[in-house]
Amino acid sequence: MVKDDHVRAPGRSSPTVRRTSPDRSARTTTSLLPGKGWWRAAVIYQVYVRSFSDSNGDGIGDLAGVRERLPYLKRLGVDGVWLNPFYVSPQHDHGYDIADHCAVDPVYGDLEDFARLVDGCRLLGLKLVVDTVPNHCSSWHPWFQQALAAAPGSHERARFHFADGRGETGELPPNNWRVMFGGPAWTRVVEADGNPGQWYLHMFTTEQPDFNWRNPAIAEEFERILRFWLDRGVDGFRIDVAAGLFKHPLLPDSADPEADERTRDSVNPLAWNQPEVHQVWRAWRAICEEYTARDGRDRLLVGEASVPTPAQQAEYVRPDELHQAFFFHLLHAPWDREHVQRVVDEAVRDIAATGSTVTWVLNNHDQVRTVSRFAGTDPVAGPARAAAAALLMLALPGAAYIYQGEELGLPEVTDLPDELITDPIFHRTGSRTGIRDGCRIPMPWSGGHAPFGFSPDDAPARPWLPQPEHFAAHTAERVLADTGSFWHLYREALQLRRTMPQFGADSIRWLDCGPDVLALTRGDGLVCAVNFGVGPVPAPVDGAPLIASGPCPPGVLPAATAAWWATTTS
Ligand code: GLC
Ligand code: CA
Repeated sequence: MVKDDHVRAPGRSSPTVRRTSPDRSARTTTSLLPGKGWWRAAVIYQVYVRSFSDSNGDGIGDLAGVRERLPYLKRLGVDGVWLNPFYVSPQHDHGYDIADHCAVDPVYGDLEDFARLVDGCRLLGLKLVVDTVPNHCSSWHPWFQQALAAAPGSHERARFHFADGRGETGELPPNNWRVMFGGPAWTRVVEADGNPGQWYLHMFTTEQPDFNWRNPAIAEEFERILRFWLDRGVDGFRIDVAAGLFKHPLLPDSADPEADERTRDSVNPLAWNQPEVHQVWRAWRAICEEYTARDGRDRLLVGEASVPTPAQQAEYVRPDELHQAFFFHLLHAPWDREHVQRVVDEAVRDIAATGSTVTWVLNNHDQVRTVSRFAGTDPVAGPARAAAAALLMLALPGAAYIYQGEELGLPEVTDLPDELITDPIFHRTGSRTGIRDGCRIPMPWSGGHAPFGFSPDDAPARPWLPQPEHFAAHTAERVLADTGSFWHLYREALQLRRTMPQFGADSIRWLDCGPDVLALTRGDGLVCAVNFGVGPVPAPVDGAPLIASGPCPPGVLPAATAAWWATTTS
């Protein structure tokens, strides 16, 4: 990874650009409306609360644990923290099945712990973003329980999508939709008389009934929920399934019912990305603006809006809608120069046209970690490529999200025994494809054996998912002591982002450095190059780089390596 002698403070070297020719596309991609807002270039750290830090030894991470670790995050240099759901939930989908949106699940603490966390963040100047899940709730939610007890056609059922089945006796689901977690999107209920009755819609698990957003009661309830957390000091919300919420009003059959399930993606155009959803984001934006008008603090809405194209995604970040939407096309890109260049280009062009910035992400709690994902058939290549990709992401204009453990260089854990797998995808499909436990293993903080400081040493319970012995090489304690580690790469890059004036520019220009090298200038004076090839190439800039993702002697850019140079370019 980064060697100390290749990490230079800005201004210590004076390199000159060489071997660059006019860019292939002859295009400079620039933000049209450079705007304000702390979120535009923020780097936010995603905390999967359950797996971050366990303060009381029950083997499950909690809010008090997050608070204890805030100085670590401050030291890393992030601007803020996003917390995955910590609300009351039966945990059928680890908190994405919420039974009470305005209370902390006792396993994670209580509202006082939350208040202390808010204070802790405020004290250190860290923003605090919480998750919100408006598409569905838990089947344990009182509204759903009331709906089950009520009759067909009742106002209790109208908060969800209840419908009569097809077939002679209603034995077939109302339509043919299937879900990305596997299986049909409908479950039949037993009515009060003990007979099989209506069906309800759920785009994820059976335990996650979808709300009917055509019922105004849902919008009202979510405005109340937003205000509840805004009044408790949050700086913003991550919005789960932000392209969901509305379904086609007639709930017609899908042309390709298997596609959602097969691709594990939200591709059914009747169930996702309906035009009405934008009015919800406008209303939520107005609520945020109302709070900002009161105290001058910008609130942030960041959406998980998985839609097929960057142009469609841009619609979610129009000036009166969400501030940010995760750009997943980079996350889904293979280790391939051309592919990566294309998605970066499209993102910067389409998102910038809205006046917003791109929100980059390489890892999260739903994806195979980059160290393993980029390895392909060569496990040795994984860490080098993951580090290079991170340095590329952090060079790009816009905001970035880092998922806990990314800074430790954690690999995916792929050998959990079947009986320990908790992901509902596994239980619904019987297949390990796409299961998410492997990126949610409790964080290793210190020591040579489990629980690696995740729980107190004398904890009565073991971590909720087992940590492999090889996590010993990735503890925070170890990586902090090793200046060549992922941790120092991230920290140094975040520091450079903060201090170098080049990062004020929202434009990039491609440099042509051959088929294997992705090279760009940021504004006027920062060059970032990544070598996607298998052998070393001449560096695009003379002189030692400011920072590199691996050993990088002056004049050479080794394979699977990224580097930044400060320079003035032609
Ligand atoms: C989002 C979350 C994922 C969850 C799903 C259903 O994709 O990131 O973890 O399972 O929504 O809420
Ligand atoms: Ca705990």
